[in-house]
Formats: sequence, structure tokens, C-alpha cells
Amino acid sequence: MRILKLELQVEHLKRQKLLSWKVRDAEIAMRKAMAAELERVVGEQQAAAAAARTRAEASPSLRPLGSKRAVALVQANDCLRRVSPRLYPGHAAPCRHRETFQGEVLFDGVLTLPDDKVKYSTDGNPLGTGGEAEVFKGVYSVHNSWGEQPVKVAVKVMKKKTEQSSARLVDEVRLLGTLAHPNVVRTFGVHATATTTGAVLELCEGGSLADAIANGGLEADMQQRVVRELAGALAYLHRAASGVESKPVVIHADLKPDNILLTKELVVKVGDFGLSNKHVRDYVGGGGKEAGGTREFRSPEAWLGRKLTTKADVYSYACVLVCVACGVPVPYTHTKEKLRELVPVGKLRPELPATHAWHQLVVACGECDPRERWSSDDVVRYFKGVS
Ligand SMILES: Nc1ncnc2c1ncn2[C@@H]1O[C@H](COP(=O)(O)OP(=O)(O)O)[C@@H](O)[C@H]1O
Ligand SMILES: [Mg+2]
Repeated sequence: MRILKLELQVEHLKRQKLLSWKVRDAEIAMRKAMAAELERVVGEQQAAAAAARTRAEASPSLRPLGSKRAVALVQANDCLRRVSPRLYPGHAAPCRHRETFQGEVLFDGVLTLPDDKVKYSTDGNPLGTGGEAEVFKGVYSVHNSWGEQPVKVAVKVMKKKTEQSSARLVDEVRLLGTLAHPNVVRTFGVHATATTTGAVLELCEGGSLADAIANGGLEADMQQRVVRELAGALAYLHRAASGVESKPVVIHADLKPDNILLTKELVVKVGDFGLSNKHVRDYVGGGGKEAGGTREFRSPEAWLGRKLTTKADVYSYACVLVCVACGVPVPYTHTKEKLRELVPVGKLRPELPATHAWHQLVVACGECDPRERWSSDDVVRYFKGVS
């Protein structure tokens, strides 16, 4: 109530065109009141969550009597235990969860959202379908100090309902949770019921870059912006942030127009981290889709089954540049056998006509030898140079 009053006061002062310092003082008072209120609400929620956690840990048999929150907590943990047995290597002890915030449970870096807070249906048309998953439109009720607020989201559901595929989805959300960049899709967490596991993601209403290309392509200035933003996102993924302990080096490993999403305002959001691996050292590519990503965008080293580095993404980036510039879905239309024969030896590489502004960029990013290939930082520098 008090905050509302202060807000009205600020509005009133602004309308009256009073001296700016008066408006500023009123705004400061309002912000302070908001901060105090937020602190109070958060405090209450944390206390309730801690109590619920203690009850849930003490005895799951409290469930019928316990608070709603305790039930949610136990259910969420049960779901996670089911969907990702690797997270709980064979023990029935209470899992390592942290805070709950209106029922969300942070467990091993994955936020599990309460059942009733996420609404989506898998009956209608999906927003998009990939090799592994379907993505549906949904709504997530976010709780803040002003109450429940519906946020439009995208929910990624695996086509195969196996424990393994659910665990992969949880891994993807865990990785996405460590990332924060304006051109990387955001995650809200996992929504796990007894039957389905969904990754709740930021909704990209502009569809994928593949859709944009199929619908006639992008204007020249939009093309430039899209590939520039994409380069920025890659440079961020490829850099281990110093000082931010949870930001690992990330190889996307499946960069292609289907996995590059666009918002309503056509801002790029790199999505689908299903094949990414944050541990560069452990990542070994192979001939299969599993290891090397989609074949038309696969780097020579991935075809050869070599250990992938971040440079593999730069090769795929060169392929994406060709698709964007030429308005085509794939950079080459060769058969799988031909690709396997020609790409690893550099006889087939992404190319643009010598007259095209990105000709040199595609040459530098499409180098067969990863040591000679540009890094994503080089690409960012290139774009800084041409602007
Ligand atoms: N956050 C999102 N918002 C809107 N559409 C999305 C979103 N994420 C994915 N899609 C659509 O769903 C398709 C499949 O999603 P993706 O994560 O690539 O699944 P897969 O792992 O099966 O390839 C994408 O190509 C895109 O069209
Ligand atoms: Mg995909």
C-alpha cells in the first residue's frame, strides 16, 4: 500500500513538472520502500522454504500432513531422482538441494519449477521440432513481490520419453543456467512431472534462422546484424569468464540455422545446447551426429573423429554465413559419403563469391586446419573493424 502511494506521489510530482530534485527524492523514497518490501517477502519465503525442507528431509511420511511446499519439494526431488539417476548415484538420502523460492528447488545447479506454475500442452502444433525434441509454447507464473505474473515461455520436450533423454535435457538446462548473454537463450529451469520432463526456456517468437531463410531470407542490414550478434555469442561461449566461477568454456557443437533463434525484434538467441560440452578436454568428436553435429555444418576435425575445440564452432559459423548470405538452408547439397570424403581434406569448404563482402571472413573461418582458422574473438574484431 505504502509503495503504491509513493508511486502515485512520484507520478503526481512528474505531472506537475515540479523541480527535478523533488521528483528524484520521491523516487528514492519509493525505491527504498520497494527494496525493504522485497527483502521482507524474500525473507518470509526463505524461512518457509527452510522449514519445509527440514520437514521434507526429516520424513517423507509427513507428506499428507505437511505444507504444500513440503509436498512440492519432495515431489520435485522424486521427479529429479527419476529423470536423472546420475544425479543421485543410487542413494535414497535427501538430495543436495538448496533454496526454494515459491516452490522452486535448486538442485545440483538445476532449478525445478513447481508443477502448477508451468502450463503448456503437447497436443497442439509445436513451435519447432528438432532431431531430438519438440518445443511448445507455454506460460510460467513467475512470483515476485507484486504477485504472480504470467510469462510466455517455450517448453522443450524430448520425443523419446526415456530416463536417458530426460537426463540429457536436465544437463542442457544445467549448462544453460551457467550462461548469461543477450544472444544466448535463457532458461527458467526444468518442469518435471511423473510422465514428462520439459526444459522451460525464454520464448523466441521470431522462430529460427532456418525459418527466416525459408521464408525468403533477411534484408542485407539484418543479415549483418544477425551474424555479428552470433559472433558475439560464440565469443562469449568460447571464453571462460575469469572471476565468474560458473562460466565454463562451451563448445556448442551443433551450430546451424535451426538452432539459432530470433526474438520478435529479430535479436539472435543461440539455442539447443543438447550437444554442447563444457569440458573441452573431454570432448571427442566422431562421425556420428551425436558427436559432430549436423553433417552439412560439421567441421573437418569432427569428421575425422578428433578432439573438438571451440574452432569447430567457427567452421560451422562459416557455413551459417553462407546460408545467410545466399538464403539457402545448407551450405552444400552433397551426399553424406561425399561430405565425409571431401570436407576432412579441405576439398570442399564453405565459400562465397569473391565479390561478396564476407568472402574473406568465410575463407578465414572455413579453414580446414583448425590452427589456421580464425577464432570467434577474431570474428568479433573483424566486425569491429568494418563498422
Ligand atoms: N526458445 C525457443 N523459442 C521458440 N522456438 C524454439 C525455442 N527453442 C527451440 N525452438 C524451436 O524448436 C526447434 C527444435 O528445438 P531444439 O532445441 O533445436 O531441439 P533439438 O535438440 O531436437 O534439435 C528449433 O529448431 C526451433 O524452431
Ligand atoms: Mg536443434
